[in-house]
Amino acid sequence: MKIVIERFDRKKHYKQDYDIKKEDIINKTLLYALLFIKQTKDATLNFTASCRSAICGAYAVRVNGHAVLACDTKMKNLLGTYDDPDILNIAPIANFRVISDLVVDLEPSVESLKKIHPAIAPKDEFSPKKGCVQTQAKFDKIVKEWDCILCGCCASECNKLSADNSDYMEPFVFVHAFRAAFDSRNKNDMLHTKASVMGGLWNCVHCQECIDRCPKGINAAENIASLRIKAIKKGLTSGVGPAHAKAFYTDLVDGSGRLNEVLLALRSEGAATITKTGLVITLWRSGKLNPLHIFGEKEIEGHKDLVKMIKAAQAANKE
Ligand code: SF4
Ligand code: SF4
Ligand code: FES
Repeated sequence: MKIVIERFDRKKHYKQDYDIKKEDIINKTLLYALLFIKQTKDATLNFTASCRSAICGAYAVRVNGHAVLACDTKMKNLLGTYDDPDILNIAPIANFRVISDLVVDLEPSVESLKKIHPAIAPKDEFSPKKGCVQTQAKFDKIVKEWDCILCGCCASECNKLSADNSDYMEPFVFVHAFRAAFDSRNKNDMLHTKASVMGGLWNCVHCQECIDRCPKGINAAENIASLRIKAIKKGLTSGVGPAHAKAFYTDLVDGSGRLNEVLLALRSEGAATITKTGLVITLWRSGKLNPLHIFGEKEIEGHKDLVKMIKAAQAANKE
């Protein structure tokens, strides 16, 4: 079979093919396959790896466009996913600057991590003598996020980062912000929450791709949603993001139960909606938006029961 690797020699990007026998790698990991290429075919191929055990987070790559952790990916399963192909394409993870071949620059992510202050400040009731303990239930709320190994797979898949990374941090940065903000031992959850808002918390486009590719099963999108709820509860309600969330709620509970695209835009962006007139006309012409809905819509069937369920969920959440 052929393994086609996207390479970068600091001057140009190019693809290089390597022919290998399936039997040499089939019972090994993807990391082994790449080491095999480096050791037997091309010593100039660059990539990073250290622990080989899905611990250090050093070696994520894209296979046929999707991020995987090479040391944690069995070739048998990988080839099975693609119906035993004769060609596999390997590339560096996306949304990072490529330094050399499959090696990417993680320094900007370190800077993002610093911004959200990933360490907690213990509450005043704790002391070296008393310790800094929490119940199992409270620990369970953040335990999953402790598994993050900063491999970058979630960031590689993130559609928001691909579209525009100027106002958004990597999904794993929000995972670490969540872990600190929701740690019951922390005396300053707002430090991490505010920094998350500043880092683009409301700009996530809910594509959920980050969840699919995390080798540790961490749900970055859910962490982002939880941080948003915390931000609103703590009074960080200014801006389009919180207004947009409130507009959804208004349609769902106080309105017809159906998302009213016309009012949603007006409620979210106010007067700035006027700048989107061209888009509104395009959506109207293609039948995706009805301007008459500005006067309201027919209540959906079962709306009253839906509202009851939402109120019950809210009450349970308060308990
Ligand atoms: S859900 Fe949000 S954080 Fe996750 S990949 Fe999509 S845009 Fe990025
Ligand atoms: S959240 Fe998952 S995919 Fe993202 S960096 Fe952490 S371990 Fe990797
Ligand atoms: S080599 Fe350490 S996580 Fe893969």
